[in-house]
Amino acid sequence: MCGIVGYIGNQKASPILINGLIRLEYRGYDSAGISTIEDNGLSLMKDKGRVKNLYHLEGIDDLTGTIGIAHTRWATHGKPAKENSHPHMDNSQTFSVVHNGIIENYHELRNFLTQNGYTFYSQTDTEVIPNLVHYYYQKDENHDELRFLRAVKNACGDLKGSYAIEIICKDYPNIMIVTRKDSPLVIGKGENENYISSDIPAILSFTRNFYLLDDLEFAILTREAVSFYDKDLNPTSKETKTIEWNSASAEKEGFEDFMLKEIYEQPTAIRETIGAKFNESTKCEFDELNFTKDYLSSINKIYIVACGTAMHAGLVGKNVIEKLCKITTEVDVASEFRYRDPLVDEKTLCIFISQSGETADTIAALKLCKEKGSKTLAISNVIGSSITREADYSIYTHAGPEIAVASTKAYTSQVILITILAIYFAEILEMDSQMINTLKKDIMELPKKIEETLKLSEVIQDFSKKAYQEKDIFFLGRGVDETVAREGSLKLKEISYIHSESYPAGELKHGPIALIENDITVVSILTDSNLVEKMVSNIQEVITRGAKTLVITNQNIDKNMFDMTIQIPKTNSFISPILSIVPLQLFAYYISKEKGLDVDKPRNLAKSVTVE
Ligand code: F6R
Repeated sequence: MCGIVGYIGNQKASPILINGLIRLEYRGYDSAGISTIEDNGLSLMKDKGRVKNLYHLEGIDDLTGTIGIAHTRWATHGKPAKENSHPHMDNSQTFSVVHNGIIENYHELRNFLTQNGYTFYSQTDTEVIPNLVHYYYQKDENHDELRFLRAVKNACGDLKGSYAIEIICKDYPNIMIVTRKDSPLVIGKGENENYISSDIPAILSFTRNFYLLDDLEFAILTREAVSFYDKDLNPTSKETKTIEWNSASAEKEGFEDFMLKEIYEQPTAIRETIGAKFNESTKCEFDELNFTKDYLSSINKIYIVACGTAMHAGLVGKNVIEKLCKITTEVDVASEFRYRDPLVDEKTLCIFISQSGETADTIAALKLCKEKGSKTLAISNVIGSSITREADYSIYTHAGPEIAVASTKAYTSQVILITILAIYFAEILEMDSQMINTLKKDIMELPKKIEETLKLSEVIQDFSKKAYQEKDIFFLGRGVDETVAREGSLKLKEISYIHSESYPAGELKHGPIALIENDITVVSILTDSNLVEKMVSNIQEVITRGAKTLVITNQNIDKNMFDMTIQIPKTNSFISPILSIVPLQLFAYYISKEKGLDVDKPRNLAKSVTVE
């Protein structure tokens, strides 16, 4: 949440900063601002609204500074308003700061600073930071080149909560300082110029070489170099990591929206994630993992912990792990899991799924499991993300950058990766080899079947035209289809703002069926041959009460019963969610388009949720 960008080099900073913010808008989009170092001191330009509004601010074209910081906001403390937008300055206008995260003790710090003569102009937690830095700066009698860094370090020592901070100072016009704690921040290394960003895609067109800052570390950026310091300001060193993603992967490449592009990228994302580690004739290998039969036989439970769509991928994973490996698997929402004193110990394996690898709740749950002595395994799409640095083991989806707020290709890549992980466990545990081999064969055919499923797009678009004015849409499924129903419903509500619920179809008559009335749309997923009759009966129950029905199926059923049937290719039931979600992603997408909404940046949402 909130995107931050920074630049120091020989080019004019403001266009680079605004361009970076536009690419980071999926992290927040209620206000934006930039601050540069000009010949006459610090500039500050900010306003409520989208990043593009910055282009219209008076004086923005006159900025010539070659060092600057920038921010796009997702409001936490203080409503979206110019005064609450970042950057924030201290009272003497010596420091300018952008911040992502939450300062939990800001009331206390604000009172302390007020008593020391400081005035506050916003309702934000962030405004304490530049003033606190100034407080320590003016107290420091040693005016050497590290005075600025010492002031930042002392101020950070007083902060409780999470932060990624960029800070510039008018007295040090050739450096920028950054630091972080539990909030993402990467440093991009260029030729005589350096960049800062919350996420890699925003600066991918400038560099593919990144430094990953650890928690509580500080970095000083000059044009030529980046120097690192630990929490006590001892100098440390760091190597860059080269990121494989190319800059085109963060562009729309002819698609109207990132979401549509990402839906169509799923065959490639799945192929890449299956990758080299997998083929039909040899055992599954993960270079990053060294699990033994003794260890896997010793664990009595697996927990899969995640949020939102990633949690839905975990639910599909539970089905395959339990059936293939015979290990009890529980799935939990990270924000609930950590507060319910979960029964986790060295006999539990805890798996955390996070596309961004930066979701605060998931990271906090992981830390808790480590404290309790269990092994932790992270599944992420972002190399070097916080979650992968915390976990004992990490494996990666290869979906490429996902820019649209609504997750699509990351979800299907998570499902395939956790399925392959289950096969890896099952092979070590010497479980049913026939079941494993059939699944492996079916996995190899999956990308082609996704391509076939994508060809159904026009039919789905037609149905969306009939459904976009609905107030409520229900999703039903049984077994693994129920997990798909949940994901389909989440996709729809987040980008179309239509109220939507998903239910296990058998639960309908225990309450929710009271909501079914004439002409309401009910979407059902039906891919499990063992459940066809039961599912069809449940759909009949809603038809009898006047519902319009859309059925996604790979079974041979009588289509005359339903208003619309989408026939998807047949595949192994373990991986059928990867096919059956595709029409539902398209359904949500086209409904949102029909309503004229911003598909990629739905209201109130942000791509990675770095606050708890
Ligand atoms: C929904 C969506 C969210 C994320 C959730 C977790 O489309 O994208 O529900 O899945 O915020 O994010 P990550 O996977 O980055 O931890």
